[in-house]
Amino acid sequence: MGYKAKFKVWRGDAEGGDLQDFTVEVNEGEVVLDVIHRLQATQAPDMAVRWNCKAGKCGSCSAEINGRPRLLCMTRMSTFTEDETVTVTPMRTFPVIRDLVTDVSYNYEKAREVPAFAPPEGVEPGEYRMQQIDVERSQEFRKCIECFLCQNTCHVVRDHEENKTNFSGPRFLMRIAELDMHPLDAHENRAQEAKTDHGLGFCNITKCCTEVCPEHIKITDNALIPMKERVADHYYDPILRLFKR
Ligand code: SF4
Ligand code: F3S
Ligand code: FES
Repeated sequence: MGYKAKFKVWRGDAEGGDLQDFTVEVNEGEVVLDVIHRLQATQAPDMAVRWNCKAGKCGSCSAEINGRPRLLCMTRMSTFTEDETVTVTPMRTFPVIRDLVTDVSYNYEKAREVPAFAPPEGVEPGEYRMQQIDVERSQEFRKCIECFLCQNTCHVVRDHEENKTNFSGPRFLMRIAELDMHPLDAHENRAQEAKTDHGLGFCNITKCCTEVCPEHIKITDNALIPMKERVADHYYDPILRLFKR
């Protein structure tokens, strides 16, 4: 059965904005993105929202719903009671372009700073061989849809614009961990670079990134903590230090 829901949607641009109130029809089985589309169709044709697949796979529709970072297309209206006001705001960590659309270029800049997979010399594509166990270890990380909800949530940058230069964020530290676990990757010192160039030390394993990941990737436990351990081994293991000397 349909009902009328109360919505508050942030409207504005880089200059500023405010929450705008709406009363809007909701039908059974709908997600928040359906309701935003209905608002566009009936009451606010110029409301900006980024989306693509409506299936939780393109990572475009990230926003904050009642203060919680989520995908608009994967948040069912049945999550809320019928008399609850649903507040939709843009991701807070990135600059607003308009309404619910933010400028996520910080993430693309950080992606470019991670050196690409480096195959061993003399091995051609098609000749790569690796154990199934090594394939499986990083399989989880390749589920990432680049929604950047983890990047938006991590407190290191969420409230500290000044840290953006030195911190690549959970998504890209995880990418470095994935490459570091790759048995054929010939780029040396990935873990050490995570510390020196990508700000791994800023992460104090609060796990907020893991909590909001729509792909349920265990970013902290399976990527960041193991990489911190390898960095600690490198810098502080007394036997390794002896060898290095
Ligand atoms: Fe999104 Fe998860 Fe990938 Fe982060 S790790 S960008 S939360 S899918
Ligand atoms: Fe940030 Fe995740 Fe670490 S939220 S502090 S990157 S565990
Ligand atoms: Fe693609 Fe939501 S529209 S993830």
